[in-house]
This record gives sequence, structure tokens and C-alpha cells, in this order.
Amino acid sequence: MPELAYVNGSIVAVEEAVVSAEDRGFLFADGIYEVARSYNSKLVDLDRHLARLERSARMLDLPLPMPLPDLDRTCRSFYAQSGLPEAILYLQVTRGAGKRQHAAPPELKPTLVMTVRAIAKPTPSEFAVVTVPNNRWRMCDCKTIALLPTVLAKHAAVRAGADDAIFVEDDETVLEGASDNIFVVKGGEVYTAPADNRILAGVTRGRVLEIIGQRRLPVRVEHFKRDFMMAADEVFLTSSVLTVVPIVRIDGRPIGGGKPGPVAQSLCRAYWDLIREATA
Ligand code: PDD
Repeated sequence: MPELAYVNGSIVAVEEAVVSAEDRGFLFADGIYEVARSYNSKLVDLDRHLARLERSARMLDLPLPMPLPDLDRTCRSFYAQSGLPEAILYLQVTRGAGKRQHAAPPELKPTLVMTVRAIAKPTPSEFAVVTVPNNRWRMCDCKTIALLPTVLAKHAAVRAGADDAIFVEDDETVLEGASDNIFVVKGGEVYTAPADNRILAGVTRGRVLEIIGQRRLPVRVEHFKRDFMMAADEVFLTSSVLTVVPIVRIDGRPIGGGKPGPVAQSLCRAYWDLIREATA
């Protein structure tokens, strides 16, 4: 089955896709992206991902290459051509290609790039993570391709032999994972940071909060500190790529006895049930 790329209307093998050396995504990270996952040949929550893409575009005053319903159709038809049932759809829009100057000329045409790749590895059953200082800008609610802090955070995780990194503010406020949202369970209550400008409001975070609401579990969408997290009964991450993954070690210390906890496992099962229903 082919892993494909789409570049401004042309579909090619992923290794053959090219964009201009003067694309503003390449020169300035002047662009936005989304990552959606497919199961059983169906894309999950594409509408929510595209709604967030539109919001990110608005925040940067970045024109989308086509109206949202057309983009939706284009994504689906591109994805269908890959024939990959379990895949990751990556979608990126940049402000376009042109002579290098910081302020973009108005006549640029946005560049739309997509790739479909098979899921590389099965969903992990548990993660060890490290905490890293939050050195990101103040628009983390915008899903921009400017991901250097994320890259450095992931490098710190790899160096420590961990699976991921968690951004923590100077005042010890826990924000989110480098490419996922974080939840903490303590005394039967589930905590997650509010969707302000310091985190990306994940589509999966939204789904998990909906499941928590349906089950009437006590939930507190509020900030919590590193000490609180370290003493939690359970901690888990959510993202479209990972789904729901329990964290069993943070900075080398076991969390909740060093084993995945019952709330995380049950929410993970419920999320997968939801996906199975949506993609049946
Ligand atoms: N990352 N927070 C950040 C900073 C993210 O980059 C992501 C997604 C999430 C989770 O969002 P969602 O549930 O919508 O996938 C939270 C994608 C997967 C990535 O960068 O590859």
C-alpha cells in the first residue's frame, strides 16, 4: 500500500514530494498543521481537526488554500487513495513561497502539503516521561509548525531514556506534554489544565473530557503544580496519535505504584470503544 504525499494538488510517493526552497514554512516556520488518525479506513474527528486548523489560520491571519468544506473533501479523497486502513494523515498549510522577506507580500498563494503514513508502531501501554521547562511562546493554542521547543523537549526525553516530556512553567504549573495533553487523577478527581493560550486544546483531550462527563466522574479543569502531579494516583497523556497512555514514571520516580491505574485504563478502553463505533 502506498504512502503518499499531496503538494498543492499533485499526489506523489511520499519520498518524491518537493516544495520550494523559498517556502515560508521552510524559511520562517510560517505555517500551521494538523495530525489525524484513521482506523478501519476512516479518518477520526477530521471535522474537529479542520475546525482547529481554521482557528489556527485565523490566529496567524494565514489564508487557507480553499474553503473548509473543500479542504475536508480534498483530505478524504487524498486519504482514500492511499488505501491504508490504519494511518496518520498529516496536513500542513504555509503562507506560501516567495522571495525571503519577513513581512509576507499579499499575493502569496498558501502551500498545502499532506502525507499519509501507515501507523509505525502499536499504541504503547505505558510511558515514562521527564519534565522540561516551558520555553514556548504565548500562543500555544495555535497549532503552528514552529516546533523547536517540542523538538528539544523530545531530545531531552530521549537523552533521559524516557518516552516523552512534560512542559512545566517556572512556577511549577504543569501544562501539557510535548505533543499531547496531560491528565492527573487524585482522590477520585480527574484534573487537566484549562484550554488557554498555554496549551493546545487536543481533540483527544476533548473526547476524553466528554467521556468523563458522560460517566459523571468528578473533573477539575484547572491548573495543578508539579508536586501535585508527582503525588497523584494516576497520570496519563492523550493525543490523536497516542490515544490514551498511562504515565508510570516521571523524572525517574514511580507514579501510582509504577503501574497504569484503573481510571486511565478505563478511559483508554472507553476512547477505543468510541473510535470503534465511529469507524465501524
Ligand atoms: N500533537 N498538545 C500539543 C502541544 C500537541 O502538539 C498535540 C498534538 C496535542 C494533542 O492534540 P490532539 O489530541 O488533537 O492530537 C496536545 C500532534 C499529534 C503532533 O504534533 O504530532
